[in-house]
Amino acid sequence: MTTEVADVQSLEARYVLQTYRRSPVTFVRGEGVRLYDSEGREYLDLLSGIGVASLGHAHPALSRAIAEQAQTLIHTSNLFFHPLQGQLAERLASLSGLPRAFFCNSGAEAVEACLKFARRYWYTRGEPRPEIVALEESFHGRTFGSLSVTSDEHYRTPFGPLLSGVRFVPANDPAALRAAASTSTAAIIAEPIQGEGGVRPLTPSFGAAIMEVCRQTGALLIADEVQSGLGRTGVPFYSSTLGMKPDLMSLGKALAGGVPIGAALMSDEVARTISFGDHGSTYGGNLLACRAALCVLDQLVEGGLIAQIGRIGRRVEERLQAMAAAHPSVKQVRGAGLIWGLDLNRDATPVVPAALSRSVIVNRTAETVVRLLPPLVISGDELDEGLERLDAALSLVEAEGGSH
Ligand SMILES: Cc1ncc(COP(=O)(O)O)c(C=O)c1O
Repeated sequence: MTTEVADVQSLEARYVLQTYRRSPVTFVRGEGVRLYDSEGREYLDLLSGIGVASLGHAHPALSRAIAEQAQTLIHTSNLFFHPLQGQLAERLASLSGLPRAFFCNSGAEAVEACLKFARRYWYTRGEPRPEIVALEESFHGRTFGSLSVTSDEHYRTPFGPLLSGVRFVPANDPAALRAAASTSTAAIIAEPIQGEGGVRPLTPSFGAAIMEVCRQTGALLIADEVQSGLGRTGVPFYSSTLGMKPDLMSLGKALAGGVPIGAALMSDEVARTISFGDHGSTYGGNLLACRAALCVLDQLVEGGLIAQIGRIGRRVEERLQAMAAAHPSVKQVRGAGLIWGLDLNRDATPVVPAALSRSVIVNRTAETVVRLLPPLVISGDELDEGLERLDAALSLVEAEGGSH
């Protein structure tokens, strides 16, 4: 380790709240799907900052848009108009079919907004509904509201009591869903692909059951597309693949390619129940974030990126299935497009450092799952290269029996 790297780590150890167990790598530069550390080593990034760097690193159009905007105007607050927020809302409306947007700064805030708007909807109608139905293995964020609909006790327990009235049901279990939902349910919240929970896609039949329960009880549907949305699966939003028609949708991560942003999209019916002053955010939808998001959407839609992800996704699936066949530790391959999980028959923790030692970046989630969320701009050849490195990392872990 160079002195410089040791300095970075000791300064953080001294002054930064220790909530993250970081891998001992300091990245200083990126280009496309590659990252470079402070010692000049190159890595292939199959994680994109947990699904955020949608256009990869230092994308020329995005860098230019951000630099230009920074030199023009970054922030004025929501007390005034600026030209970009309406444009972004219009683009998201045409992509999602949900005609109104509220902008915030992260995925958790987007979920928080959706939960508040669902409560507000029922309050305005004069029939307040106290309950929310959420799924087991869900992850929606770390604020009190979003944590209240996140199932993992490890995240929840130290912070109780959380919101009351949240009922969890197993994903892909229509009978449990029907039993939990009633006319007291304000909303059902679901990730179309449970990301942090181990890359677990919902089934179309469960999507149909959600729609049926919403129709029968009147409950609103919140699709949390923070991780699965915005082209990652080869379509704008995975909820549509499942036949889901959400009333509210939370977005974040990939939307501005790394500039913090979140968005809660909603139907007109929900929007009509919300009044001036009901919700707000100082930064939400500022010029810098909107400019970056408009640039990302240009690339995704007009640039044809979303269209090519379906094809690349099939190639990834083939490669991963071949990897699973060759590696006894891989139990199952799950995912779609450019979100994939390799579920191992053991703790996946050692795979991360082994992958770093082979110059490829992945992460571990849900204990046994190696997760891939590559930048959406990755080419077939780059994917092959990354997966070859991952293959070598898995062999290393298997050879060492997990003691890496
Ligand atoms: C589905 C989902 N919702 C919400 C969040 C929270 O987003 P953020 O970390 O930006 O608050 C995440 C983060 O991983 C997520 O995967």
